Amino acid sequence: MNTVLMDITLRDENLVTPSLVMDFANIHRTYDRFEAAFPEGKLFYAVKANANFEIVKLVVDRKGGLEIASLAELEKSLDAGAIGEQIICSNPIKNPAFLKAMHRNHVYAMVVDSTFEVEKVAQYAPGSKVYVRLAVDNKGSVLPLAGKFGVSGEEALAIFDLAKERGLQPIGLSFHVGSQCLSVNNWVNAIKACGEVWREAKARGHHMYFLDIGGGFPAGHYHDGTIPTIEEIGSSVMRAVEHFIPTTPDLMLILEPGRGLVGESGRLAVSVVGKATRGESTWLYLDAGVFNGLMETFEGFPPVVYLMADDAAERPLMRYTLAGPSCDSCDVIARDIELPEIHINDRLIFIDAGAYTNEYAVAFNGFPIPSVVNLNVEAVAA
Ligand SMILES: Cc1ncc(COP(=O)(O)O)c(C=O)c1O
Repeated sequence: MNTVLMDITLRDENLVTPSLVMDFANIHRTYDRFEAAFPEGKLFYAVKANANFEIVKLVVDRKGGLEIASLAELEKSLDAGAIGEQIICSNPIKNPAFLKAMHRNHVYAMVVDSTFEVEKVAQYAPGSKVYVRLAVDNKGSVLPLAGKFGVSGEEALAIFDLAKERGLQPIGLSFHVGSQCLSVNNWVNAIKACGEVWREAKARGHHMYFLDIGGGFPAGHYHDGTIPTIEEIGSSVMRAVEHFIPTTPDLMLILEPGRGLVGESGRLAVSVVGKATRGESTWLYLDAGVFNGLMETFEGFPPVVYLMADDAAERPLMRYTLAGPSCDSCDVIARDIELPEIHINDRLIFIDAGAYTNEYAVAFNGFPIPSVVNLNVEAVAA
């Protein structure tokens, strides 16, 4: 992170709040780390994490790929200069208009994880390359994604067979270990499970070459030593692929980082707009809450927040409940957290806010979603 420019921006009195400040030099550095950690991998950025047009363009300009979930994300990817070959869709549920648009634009491949979806893809995007999402263990993740999507190995094989019968081209497997995955073993075990299905699918005559290990790469390594780094995940994944996936000369190893690519490159600046004593607690009300930027705190992500003030180190430490500005009682960001004494109009900074901040945000009660400030957009790959 170019902390000097970020720091100047976050201190600037003219910065409106809430603002999400993104550092593009840091996104490039993170991209470089993914490329080094996964030498045989191909990065398809999960646009859902932060659909900032400049980020999508950065990935396209670096000849990376994009993982999309909707028609709007497809249109943005094309506007940023992506061609169909650079796009995949790992959303298991796709509507007809989206399928037709992907077909028209020659999107490289798309996921299926039910027989109904196979029929739909065959109807609206005939002949498409398809991969099947396996259900895998999400236990080590802050935000598990299991249950809603994914199938067993046996179901995957039946889906491959049906897809082929319907004129689609089955090419491989995908999975998602859950977002902010803290257990490297989740990837290793998932790849092992893929290996077993891969072998059987080959035996049934399917040409398997596409292995998509999804997202889940966590953010926050530099302030918490317990979070696995991109490099640690990369070395375990590369070994697991070597060990468990049958030899495949044309293997395409796909990664779909969302948070892992952009999470650490964003900081959210907010203002304290109210304060109250309620029983034992002192409440601080901020101009961003769970609806307009901090939804992930509602999903179990502990916020990492600091006071931006020259005298922060001199102020006594206090305990606070942090809440958003809306009238809804669920709009609580954190309880009983320690901060220097805070006054109304103080500025707080949430770190690791580059993913799932503005994408989740709505202007409930008329409170605006964060403005976006892009720093170092002209930065280039190393
Ligand atoms: C299919 C798919 N791929 C990739 C991602 C990105 O995940 P993450 O931000 O944890 O890397 C998601 C997130 O929900 C997803 O659903």
